[in-house]
Amino acid sequence: MSVTIVVGGQWGDEGKGKIVDILSADADGVARYQGGANAGHTILIDKKQYVLHLIPSGILRNATTCYIGNGVVVDPDAFLGEIEFLNSEGIDIEGRLFLSNNAHLVTPLHILSDKASETGSNKIGTTLRGIGPAYTDKISRIGIRAIDLLNEADFKSKLHNNYELFASRSAGSNSELPSFDKLFEPYWASASKLIPYLSDVTAQLQEMVRNGDNLLLEGAQGTYLDVDHGTYPYVTSSNPSAGSACSGVGIGPTKIDRVVTVFKAYTTRVGLGPFPTELEDEIGNLIRETGVEFGATTGRKRRCGWFDIPLANRAIGINGTSDIALTKLDVLDGLEEIMLCVGYKLNGEKIDYFPRNVEEMDSVVPIYETIPGWKTELKHFSSYSELPENAKNYISTLEDYLESPIKMISVDPQREKIILR
Ligand code: GDP
Ligand code: IMO
Ligand code: MG
Repeated sequence: MSVTIVVGGQWGDEGKGKIVDILSADADGVARYQGGANAGHTILIDKKQYVLHLIPSGILRNATTCYIGNGVVVDPDAFLGEIEFLNSEGIDIEGRLFLSNNAHLVTPLHILSDKASETGSNKIGTTLRGIGPAYTDKISRIGIRAIDLLNEADFKSKLHNNYELFASRSAGSNSELPSFDKLFEPYWASASKLIPYLSDVTAQLQEMVRNGDNLLLEGAQGTYLDVDHGTYPYVTSSNPSAGSACSGVGIGPTKIDRVVTVFKAYTTRVGLGPFPTELEDEIGNLIRETGVEFGATTGRKRRCGWFDIPLANRAIGINGTSDIALTKLDVLDGLEEIMLCVGYKLNGEKIDYFPRNVEEMDSVVPIYETIPGWKTELKHFSSYSELPENAKNYISTLEDYLESPIKMISVDPQREKIILR
């Protein structure tokens, strides 16, 4: 009976969806606490692939109830599209999906605004899902919340105010901006369909905690996309790290029992921003091809590089990690040697602090330790003790550096391919 946070330890796409799906087998509830449809969480069951953007990864388990917390920003079309997809797959969500009254809505204005910022010199390579502008409105206290759907006139008036503000800021330069009525009507037609899902999710989750139910809090993105702890400004506009799980659903920190931090056995990132261990060579291409490193939301190529210990260690501190899930170890199967970044040099000198800004992070040179590869297909293994010695050596080297137990090792995208310790 416990509350577990699942959080990404790198730049997103660590395989959180797969890990949440596995842990959901024993969960009564799964709640998303931040982000929006910028996430893409993939689960593979019997060769069928499911990619979830907003709905928690627990939805694929019939006995699990799913919640979208107040900290999430919700695009109605993305939400409804996902429900339609799940229905078409024969997954019954009736009575199993709730949306917090306090969650903010992503409007068409947010998506236009995201697109407009990404054409300028401050481009950061967003997913163009309107996430930054939606959180900006939330913090500016002009956002529209799910509960506002209960009063159409009030909802329309709030959206109209935001429309006027957007039009005045873009000074007529946004050629894609339709008239207010053209924007409102289709938006309302979709958004009003969210009404049946509205709920006091905080009250529901607090009740589950009181009952001693098993609850998972599913993070989106990753620690280094965190607006506070990430490679600012090349970050998302929320706090993916574990600390925000509490405020993103409304459960206090004393109720959290476990924090599972998910790390890929190497590192990837999509979009712009510093990446010290990035491999812009044949090995980087090989990892991308073998790991199918293309974005689950935008289809963009993911940048690939070696595992970075200083980055992971800091993420472990930020998240208060109790245990690690290591994913995609099989992607390294074919390599003779694997490099592990164990420190950084800046201006030729080893540094004993974490790079302080993106300029320093762009300039650091990784210090590598070489680990022999195992040259064996790991997907055939289901227990730790049977793994090739060199694979065990890689895992235990990571554990020594990270001073945290690696309790789950994923060796294939399929749900059942997981080694538990
Ligand atoms: P998330 O955003 O953290 O949920 O991760 P994504 O779903 O965006 O990206 C992870 C990708 O790796 C997906 O395509 C998964 O199907 C795949 N995947 C997850 N675990 C493994 C693994 O152990 N091995 C391999 N080869 N692929 C995996
Ligand atoms: P999951 O949950 C990887 C990245 C974008 C961009 C930056 C800001 O699947 O791990 P945004 O649209 O959020 O304003 O973009 O964040 N990004 C992700 N990268 N995985 C994700 O989610 C991401 N969500 C956003 O590529 O660099
Ligand atoms: Mg993803």
